[in-house]
Amino acid sequence: MSDTPQTRQASEVDEPAETAPTTTTTTRTTTTGESDERVREEWRDHEFAGPAKLSVEDLNVHYGDDHALKDVSIDIPERSVTALIGPSGCGKSTFLRCLNRMNDRVSSARIEGSVTLDDEEIYQEGVNLVELRKRVGMVFQSPNPFPKSIRDNISYGPRKHGDLETGLLARLLGRADEDEREELVERCLRDAALWDEVNDRLDDNALGLSGGQQQRLCIARCLSVDPEVILMDEPASALDPIATAKIEDLIDELSEEYTVVIVTHNMQQAARISDQTAVFLTGGELVEYDATGKIFENPESQRVEEYISGKFG
Ligand SMILES: Nc1ncnc2c1ncn2[C@@H]1O[C@H](COP(=O)(O)OP(=O)(O)OP(=O)(O)O)[C@@H](O)[C@H]1O
Ligand SMILES: [Mg+2]
Repeated sequence: MSDTPQTRQASEVDEPAETAPTTTTTTRTTTTGESDERVREEWRDHEFAGPAKLSVEDLNVHYGDDHALKDVSIDIPERSVTALIGPSGCGKSTFLRCLNRMNDRVSSARIEGSVTLDDEEIYQEGVNLVELRKRVGMVFQSPNPFPKSIRDNISYGPRKHGDLETGLLARLLGRADEDEREELVERCLRDAALWDEVNDRLDDNALGLSGGQQQRLCIARCLSVDPEVILMDEPASALDPIATAKIEDLIDELSEEYTVVIVTHNMQQAARISDQTAVFLTGGELVEYDATGKIFENPESQRVEEYISGKFG
């Protein structure tokens, strides 16, 4: 009686994932063709050298009744590239937007859990959201420059935040606003690998640039307020291969100084540019997080392996 298939199945379901024995995980196939396996804690527990820039603990996001992110815990190391991959609708953008509280703008969103930036809770009361979004900047899928000159696109952010008048740079240099502005514009455009292409037309409208140039301008604009973390949501998905290669080279360079978190649908891109990769799967679960080489060559989860090899998603 105690050995009927029915009771065996019930005891398997009751067993907590973290105490599961090290036997092979039993999987079935769901109607969408995915394997039905339980996420194991150790698949998501990526160790890296050095302190975490961002630390996410038990993050849950609901949009009304829709549970978009489930119990996500992950540490993101500084000065590196972390890729977020997974099928459409699995919560990648939602997760990214939680890292600088952009989801606060979505009235139906309910966010629970903890996100720390340099060990400080960003979801505590009294956090200055303008300051937070300066430290954790964002670049979107479609380039969205302001309909202003190339120069103004860069100097607008610092001027809005008052940095050109009162910022450290201004105080140290003690120079006229104009000089500081020109210096900042050049530095940001150089850092975004765009200077050589636009330095003779800084007064032209930014909307006259190509898509790839506009996206680099948006990255330059993001750099102009001196961020520490740069969040990118599919920044190259609308670009041709040459523009994409430029963005990828740029991300590689930026990661020497900044912490970059990037959502991409392009597996080769994730494999090429990231140091570690987090895989989200349907239902808003973070299934596996590890060094990028490990995720792409030898993932622990069968579902991750199936996703990466293109069996679903
Ligand atoms: N503003 C919103 N209001 C209501 N539901 C939302 C909102 N944004 C996202 N969702 C829902 O949350 C879930 C996750 O969406 P999200 O945009 O984070 O997925 P994604 O992984 O970025 O997908 P894609 O790869 O298509 O961009 C989806 O079910 C989506 O419908
Ligand atoms: Mg998205």
